[in-house]
Amino acid sequence: MAVSRRRFVGGIAAALGYISVGPDVDLFAQQGRGGRAGVPGQGGRGPRQLVDLTKVAKINNNENPYGVPPAVRAAMDDPKAWEWANRYGAPDGGLSQAIQELHGVKAENIIFGCGSGELLSSITIAMLIGDPKKKVLGVNPTYGDPYSKAAQIGRETIRVPLNKDYTQNIPAIIDIANKRAAEIGFIYIVNPNNPTGMIVPKAQIKQLLDGIPKDMPVLIDEAYHHFVDSPDYESSMKYVLEGRPVIVCRTFSKIAALAAMRLGYGIAPPELIRKVRTFTTGSQSITVKFGGAASVKDTAGQAKTKALNKQVRDDTIAKLKALGHEVLPSEANFFMVGLKREVSEVAPEFQKRDVLVGRPFAPMTQHLRVSVGTQAEMDKFMAAFKEIMAAPAKTSAGDK
Ligand SMILES: Cc1ncc(COP(=O)(O)O)c(C=O)c1O
Repeated sequence: MAVSRRRFVGGIAAALGYISVGPDVDLFAQQGRGGRAGVPGQGGRGPRQLVDLTKVAKINNNENPYGVPPAVRAAMDDPKAWEWANRYGAPDGGLSQAIQELHGVKAENIIFGCGSGELLSSITIAMLIGDPKKKVLGVNPTYGDPYSKAAQIGRETIRVPLNKDYTQNIPAIIDIANKRAAEIGFIYIVNPNNPTGMIVPKAQIKQLLDGIPKDMPVLIDEAYHHFVDSPDYESSMKYVLEGRPVIVCRTFSKIAALAAMRLGYGIAPPELIRKVRTFTTGSQSITVKFGGAASVKDTAGQAKTKALNKQVRDDTIAKLKALGHEVLPSEANFFMVGLKREVSEVAPEFQKRDVLVGRPFAPMTQHLRVSVGTQAEMDKFMAAFKEIMAAPAKTSAGDK
């Protein structure tokens, strides 16, 4: 049996062997979460490192750097948001109604989580727990939570490498989904992808959904939906409305600037929602629900964040390109810049200069993921970047 190994930072990557579709597809078991520990059989993330947020340019977690928009903050500060804070089953501030109207769905199509991260975990468990053969199928690199949750419950993942141009290899996913249908618990697609910031065009999402077995669940993670401009992109909500087994997840952590308040939701056909609900806590803070409801309606606040993000992102990317660096075409509030040296070499140098940058995303270990901060944060990043990159590289060029 031919065996392929890929190196992952912060986790145990066991490539068990090639599968039928091609030599580059790896089957992984027991893959921990990169960065913070995710130990198989021992639960999830370790504690986040506390940082002095007054001092650092925090461009490592794709947050909204502009703070909670005034309309959202006002809704959370309203005495109504506190009136029943002593009760379980308190009112939701109109959140469910607002989301029903936004997407044209019913309450039975919606599931809430403490961040979309909770939902990614719950969906993974719900789709894989009943059958030890079931696996998650998706690309690599992408957002790792479903993969690490699968590992924690003893399930494997099938990860298809990105194409040479860093797009997602949708034909390969379709091929595997058909050839190994009995083993696939669900397909996971992040659109736009994290860490690349690149979209799967709407034609390819359709190709995927039309090309796989009709009953195969697909989780489409639209955490960065609000930042996209490309006319080739569209949300996959419409496929839920068509009754396909699609779950679309959204978060209030990015555009709505509520990362630390923890709110996300999923939209899916009722039978999928019921399956997932068994594994959710089903309880979010009442104040964040009021904030979420206000945020859905705060289109002006969202537009402002989107415009600032684009302006600062495009400006920073132009500066990096002018220095001769490759930058991937991002539609999100982060981007990847090619370094021709290891991220693990430069990240501590940025940290010394109070700039927190993204961790390495194997196998793209020479592409640095940079979240788009405020203009001041990006100025600090650029100054550090020039200094750090002026020093000779200690590692040689070439992604793993
Ligand atoms: C693609 C993607 N999905 C989901 C999440 C989880 O976010 P949260 O749990 O804050 O909603 C993140 C966080 O960065 C992400 O990048």
